[in-house]
Amino acid sequence: MQQIKLKINAKIYDVAVKKNWTLLYVIREVLNLTGSKCGCNTGDCGACKVLIDGEAVNSCTVLAIKAEEKEIVTIEGIAQGTSLHPIQEAFVEAGAVQCGFCTPGMIITAKALLDKNPNPTRQEIAEALDNNLCRCTGYIKIMDAIELAARRMRGEA
Ligand code: FES
Ligand code: FES
Repeated sequence: MQQIKLKINAKIYDVAVKKNWTLLYVIREVLNLTGSKCGCNTGDCGACKVLIDGEAVNSCTVLAIKAEEKEIVTIEGIAQGTSLHPIQEAFVEAGAVQCGFCTPGMIITAKALLDKNPNPTRQEIAEALDNNLCRCTGYIKIMDAIELAARRMRGEA
């Protein structure tokens, strides 16, 4: 085991990890932050996405020991105090959540997108979601939600 420090949602965690443990494994199974989901564990579904230094990254593809000294944000860190983040509110309002399994990863991807590009086109939203799979919604409402969130975050809705 190796002792490392991870900064997640602005809190420092001192954790003992094996060298081959992924960041997703540590987040879910060691730190009990179970909002990030494990859909495939092979980098294909996006359910495990977290922000690492502002980029949406599949945490199942990152070794925990490589995530030291990074700013990590999980879905648990997206809400603003007791208020949902505008992206979370928009997902609820637009009906973009069905079973909800993909939703944390979708919201992390949307956050990374909107932080860089506050006014994305429909095509840019679709491209950003390229690595996020949803088995339920057909993606239309997810894209609607991200457009709604973008409008709200720009102060237009
Ligand atoms: S669980 Fe990481 S991409 Fe599917
Ligand atoms: S809402 Fe069920 S997988 Fe997306």
